[in-house]
Amino acid sequence: MAARTNRALWQDTFGVPGVVRESPLPTNDDLGDHKVLVKVHAWAINPCDYMLQDRNMGSSYPVILGCDVAGTVEAVVPGSTAASQFRVGDRVFGFTANSGFQDYVALEDKLMTKIPGDMAYREPVVLGLCSATAAMFLFGEDYLHLDYPKLGARKKGKSVLIWGGSSAVGSNAIQLVIAAGYDAIATCSKNNFDYVKGLGAVQVFDYKDPNVTEKVAAELDKGECAGIFMAAGLKNGNVAAWKVAAASKQTLKFASSNFIDNLDDVPKGVDVKQLSPGSFKPFPDCWFETTLVTFGGYLSEALAKGAFKVAPPPLVVNRIGLEGIQEAIDLQRVIAEKGHEGIKEAVNRVKGGMKEDKVSPVKLVVERS
Ligand SMILES: NC(=O)c1ccc[n+]([C@@H]2O[C@H](COP(=O)([O-])OP(=O)(O)OC[C@H]3O[C@@H](n4cnc5c(N)ncnc54)[C@H](OP(=O)(O)O)[C@@H]3O)[C@@H](O)[C@H]2O)c1
Repeated sequence: MAARTNRALWQDTFGVPGVVRESPLPTNDDLGDHKVLVKVHAWAINPCDYMLQDRNMGSSYPVILGCDVAGTVEAVVPGSTAASQFRVGDRVFGFTANSGFQDYVALEDKLMTKIPGDMAYREPVVLGLCSATAAMFLFGEDYLHLDYPKLGARKKGKSVLIWGGSSAVGSNAIQLVIAAGYDAIATCSKNNFDYVKGLGAVQVFDYKDPNVTEKVAAELDKGECAGIFMAAGLKNGNVAAWKVAAASKQTLKFASSNFIDNLDDVPKGVDVKQLSPGSFKPFPDCWFETTLVTFGGYLSEALAKGAFKVAPPPLVVNRIGLEGIQEAIDLQRVIAEKGHEGIKEAVNRVKGGMKEDKVSPVKLVVERS
């Protein structure tokens, strides 16, 4: 490995753009039994990337941010567990918790999988962290603990509510619960109804409707609801979604992609499933329990069979390589601040002029070349 050099987008402090410069190349000792060195061909951006860029992380600087990557296997330790699954040259995608913005990234073998057929790197790269996050909260035993998805699963006649079905996490969650045999009921903005129905949701509600609580609760109470997953909207999403749980006649399990700080705020009768900060499993272990849903099972198989949509679709920024990542992080911040208008602005900046007024969710991606 000595001949290769590695570079990263370094974050030297908070609130400033990242800077591209050399970074150490992982050695065989770093890779050990379970890691694979990947040469990255596409990076995807998550909200946490701009949030962490803006947040003061104390004395830990400089840091490398970034999670989702797709590329080719560059090295794996001969005879290791990882080598039994991956070979040099394999096309793969996966994620790492905050060291992804590099030319060469070490990925856990359980948090990556091969890319099916000739699918371009820009497609599956959007799925890594979001699918794993959705899987953990939907199927993890500390959370909703739903039955796992599988190809050809039979319908259960039970529903799951995905609050924020148009978010990236929500887009994955809808598809995963349907594949497990549940009926997906979702909320999103009106302009995203078609997008969310296109993912398979049987009923979609506008979360800005003043009567959304009663309407969604009535829908859930038409049958048995197996749980609510709050997949978007920070604290306001939690409050709105647990109001539905409280209004339902059923005692509903409730899990959120955003930690609920004060459980005293939650109305009585809502069965919140979350770990206390003291009992969190650390990164990356927290994602290992549900790899049969993601990289080591259903997601890989479904993607290969064309049964899982790449959603939201990638919006590839113009600047290539590590140098393009800051542009993508800045666009992610615009989308977070301006919502629908922010997506239009991002599409406009990338494609140079909006042809249509209607836009649906996108996932920002940077390609190597
Ligand atoms: N990305 C990850 O892998 C990850 C990992 C851990 C935790 N999380 C958390 O999960 C949440 C979703 O992340 P993401 O990456 O999926 O975000 P995202 O794709 O940026 O989600 C944005 C979408 O969320 C919807 N939304 C915003 N406020 C809402 C509300 N109050 N009720 C319902 N929908 C609302 C909006 O949909 P409309 O346009 O339809 O209004 C918006 O387009 C975030 O809060 C994040 O902190 C994400």
